[in-house]
Amino acid sequence: MKGVVLAGGLGTRLFPLTKVTNKHLLPVYNKPMVYYPIQTLVSAGVREILLVTGGNNAGDFLKLIGNGRDFGLREIDYTYQEGEGGIAAALSLAEDFAKGDRIVVILGDNIIEDDITPYVGEFAKQSSGARILLKKVDDPERFGVPLLRGKKIAMIEEKPKAPKSSYAVTGVYMYDPQVFSIVKDLKPSRRGELEITDVNNYYIKHDLMEYDILKGFWTDAGTFDSLLRANELVAKNLKAKAR
Ligand code: DAU
Repeated sequence: MKGVVLAGGLGTRLFPLTKVTNKHLLPVYNKPMVYYPIQTLVSAGVREILLVTGGNNAGDFLKLIGNGRDFGLREIDYTYQEGEGGIAAALSLAEDFAKGDRIVVILGDNIIEDDITPYVGEFAKQSSGARILLKKVDDPERFGVPLLRGKKIAMIEEKPKAPKSSYAVTGVYMYDPQVFSIVKDLKPSRRGELEITDVNNYYIKHDLMEYDILKGFWTDAGTFDSLLRANELVAKNLKAKAR
């Protein structure tokens, strides 16, 4: 299994914090934001990782992460996303890196307490398809929201005004190699992006999507409030562990 961290986009919701740096380089308590998703992959045994970034400060990722020695990696791959075409557009840049293998994709602004090893293990047992991770939240309207029917997801709506469940689709997505041909057929959404929710709905429509529910805390960090929350959750967790 290979890993892909998506750290492109312009981070406009955090302006002016992102005026002279990339969102994923901002601090979350005692580490740069992008360290958390990389560590989530490494802790799940993923050793081959591609980091997709973009914007004016892409070179800073190389200065910060280098060959990934801080994570015990021998090397790490990088690629550059022009503009802000959406999460699925960023993912499409990973096709050559994946070389027909399965991938675990993680958004660069997602902070996850769980060790995702068991979920990746379940995905490895699937004969094909995709697997996503859900989390119960107070504000589902900010996220992709699944409609659940027992052990299946009936559909996902992106940022619905009237959410059909209180779960968020988190930014951890596991895909088989057909994901790249699915992305090629996508049309831009109303916000002009290639949506990862459209990719996930394709798998759902073809009955190829499975899911797990995260047990520990999860947050994104792409708005002022969620960035603050991410800092608080990480700090609290570290202090509790040190006790
Ligand atoms: O955090 C989970 C949510 O992430 C999901 O519930 C939503 O379904 C999904 O669409 C996404 O929602 P956001 O609107 O919060 O995503 P955002 O535009 O903030 O992008 C999240 C990360 O994806 C960002 O930190 C880097 C990466 N990204 C995003 C865009 C738009 C890219 O690499 N390239 C891009 O062009």
